[in-house]
Amino acid sequence: MVLSSSSVHLLLSLLLHLIVIAVKSSDVVPQMSDISDYVPSVGEELWEEHYVTSCPNMQTIIQSKIDEWTAKDPTLAPSLIRLHYMDCAVRGCDGSILLDNPSSERTAPQARGLRGFQVIDDIKNELERQCPETVSCADILSTVARDATVKVGGPFWSMSYGRKDGFISKAEEMSLVPMGYENVTYLIEFFQSKGLNMVDLVVLSGAHTIGRATCDAIQDRIFNFKATGKADPSIKPQYLDFLKRKCRWGSDYVHLDPTTPNTFDNKYYKNIQAGMSTLATDHSLKIDSRTSPLINVFAESDWLFHQQFAVSMINLGDTDILTGDDEGEIRVNCNYVNQ
Ligand SMILES: *[C@@H]1O[C@H](CO)[C@@H](O)[C@H](O)[C@H]1NC(C)=O
Repeated sequence: MVLSSSSVHLLLSLLLHLIVIAVKSSDVVPQMSDISDYVPSVGEELWEEHYVTSCPNMQTIIQSKIDEWTAKDPTLAPSLIRLHYMDCAVRGCDGSILLDNPSSERTAPQARGLRGFQVIDDIKNELERQCPETVSCADILSTVARDATVKVGGPFWSMSYGRKDGFISKAEEMSLVPMGYENVTYLIEFFQSKGLNMVDLVVLSGAHTIGRATCDAIQDRIFNFKATGKADPSIKPQYLDFLKRKCRWGSDYVHLDPTTPNTFDNKYYKNIQAGMSTLATDHSLKIDSRTSPLINVFAESDWLFHQQFAVSMINLGDTDILTGDDEGEIRVNCNYVNQ
């Protein structure tokens, strides 16, 4: 494996970043013996022991439900990760994506294709049976994303809890969420507005290693790139033929990692390097000078991709969270604000 010097530099700074995060999280997590003294205050950070006494089986319940659902339908795993991402992408990780009314986020065009709502409902029902009015829908979504990641061979990370569910969900706020054709400046700025950096952007895009898109999202790229009537010339010819054959209908699905679509690995980055990117944004990350060194680093190291994915998912799960008593609530039904 040959690394360029800029890649080595990035690799080292990423490693340092990981070590700092590991140290930081062991500092803030209270030990079991401290729990009785630990009084969370308004605006408190998330913490691992949040449900230890109020719902001790919470993680086990969620995990066994995820086992059940993904055994029936393995394609749910990427959808569940996406559901958490889309929740956090608008108004922070507050369960706003789950609210079901005629003008809520899930009715927006950007939410078309989102799946897994019934999985969350099923989990919530079981949690309400075992520990009523205790576990927030936002915490369920973040745990489900972790368990779905592990299910497909991705990394495990410890969850921190205490997110409240929000009261507001507006379809029009979904219009800011990137849909696969935006330029890199927009992507970076969107992530920055959530407190996420460029490493988070590139590594969370790596979730495409197991994702699918509808052909609608790439029609222009393969048939009418920039209104030329031709395909994007950056797509490798054999891959273009493949995409055209796959995409007879806009509603057909196409894998975002064509070589190992069901395995959580760094092939997504290797494919991008080889001209086999599916979404326009995947390709843009390769050609933009700000993100291309990171694409190269993750294409070189599957280990680093796994490590950093866990770190960036923790960062994502911290996005604009509601923790104060008056900021949010524990919804009884994830689809509706409490009466
Ligand atoms: C990137 O996209 C944004 C939003 O669509 C647009 O305003 C901006 O001009 C674009 N920048 C470049 C460099 O194309």
